[in-house]
Amino acid sequence: MVRKVAERVFSVGAIDWDRRLFDELIPLPDGTSYNSYLLMGNDKVVLLDTVDPSKEAELFANLEELGVDRIDYVVAHHAEQDHSGALPAVLRRYPMAKVVTNAKCKEFLMDLLPELEEDQFMVIEDGSRLPLGGLTLQFVFTPWVHWPETMSSYLEEEGILFSCDFFGSHTATTDLFVRDECKVLADAKRYYAEIMMPFRLQIRKNLERLAQYEIKMIAPSHGPVYDRPGLILSAYRQWISDEVEKKAVVAYVSMHGSSSRVVDVVVDRFAEKGISVSRVNLTVADLGELAMELVDAGALVMVGPYVLAGVHPTLMHTAYLVNALRPKVKALGVILSYGWGGLGAKQISGVTGSLRPEVRMELLIKGHPKDRDVAEIKALVDSMVSVLV
Ligand code: FEO
Repeated sequence: MVRKVAERVFSVGAIDWDRRLFDELIPLPDGTSYNSYLLMGNDKVVLLDTVDPSKEAELFANLEELGVDRIDYVVAHHAEQDHSGALPAVLRRYPMAKVVTNAKCKEFLMDLLPELEEDQFMVIEDGSRLPLGGLTLQFVFTPWVHWPETMSSYLEEEGILFSCDFFGSHTATTDLFVRDECKVLADAKRYYAEIMMPFRLQIRKNLERLAQYEIKMIAPSHGPVYDRPGLILSAYRQWISDEVEKKAVVAYVSMHGSSSRVVDVVVDRFAEKGISVSRVNLTVADLGELAMELVDAGALVMVGPYVLAGVHPTLMHTAYLVNALRPKVKALGVILSYGWGGLGAKQISGVTGSLRPEVRMELLIKGHPKDRDVAEIKALVDSMVSVLV
């Protein structure tokens, strides 16, 4: 489906209604899209990114619908294959096209897509401009959104920022532009949580950099186009800030009820102290929702049992994932229920070294929590609350 974004600017990518997992990790409850844009200058025709290789037939059908018989440049904003995977096929169909990208992205592309040849590239610098005849594209390096090579480009005449993964959202929709702002913000927050949150400080610099551009529209490579870009810009400013909400996430596994009883005490104590709680049972949780909750949560408590002489693997997996996501929690608690042994807290702390909470608490409870344990759990929660209020 071809859709017109602006004069001489077309959306020619593909919607993936059925995809349910990204990077073999991230749940996609609403599918996704691989947005590719075509710029038709008076002198040059440019394709901005391609699509996932599974959808290259749709990209070609869209280009045929527009009667595109020549492409001069294919801009590669990002080397990940959901945007670059169809690049070899595009170059086979349009052999005169040059791949325009930065030096690092060129290196990644040549590593990932061995079919590409050195002389098919045109390497550009940060801030350099590409005149197309009546249209001018300026390259803006925005590293770490999502990989270190990822960049954006700015169409000067229309004020459109093509931001690739930056500001994206995984959702399959026929809406070219944002219609349901609440839905899109939720999708974008989930997306930020899943792949952008670890790079919060680098994103802050990128946002500062973008302040010099008059941005009338943001066209990401996943999800709808923002024709009122203030919506997503202000949301990002909030997500990357150091501020947290009076909110705790309690993520847990319980085999026979002891850990579940611990969670009851934790949740009730937070609530008594005026902290809203998100209670996440890891055996049935959507990890994308857990990540979303962590975008602005002030506290995280992980609770679970020992099994097979160590921390329950589901809790370990979550701890490892949380460490990779690097949320800005100010308080981190680990409460483990055990029967024998008792070195599990070290297992958790061993995989959460990237987190920088002001308060880090650990508690071991032998068997089902007794009155003495309940008092200790409440004291642990109180210490965590003290850094949130
Ligand atoms: Fe949409 Fe990092 O790829």
